[in-house]
Amino acid sequence: MTAASGSAVDPAPLQVVCAAAGIDLVVPPGTSILDAVRDAGLPVTAACTGACCGSCETRVLEGEPEHRDAVLTAEERAFGDTMMICVSGARSGRLVLDL
Ligand code: FES
Repeated sequence: MTAASGSAVDPAPLQVVCAAAGIDLVVPPGTSILDAVRDAGLPVTAACTGACCGSCETRVLEGEPEHRDAVLTAEERAFGDTMMICVSGARSGRLVLDL
């Protein structure tokens, strides 16, 4: 996993709710949200898996992302309604995503 900024690994498991699919996931430290979502069987587009293409951009419905990508602007990061799930984590411990 490549990190553009911040810590590359969340220190604790992260709860991720895939709202559209109705799936709750626990993402362990060292695992990306993208990998956890794919392991759960959800098809997610991710071209680079390295923080730079933007294809894995996902809407955030609840929670505070920890942005580690090189795609979003500072304004988009501050707004927090979207994130790159291949590398980014969460500050809130729980995210509800539009997946
Ligand atoms: S797959 Fe390219 S930024 Fe996430």
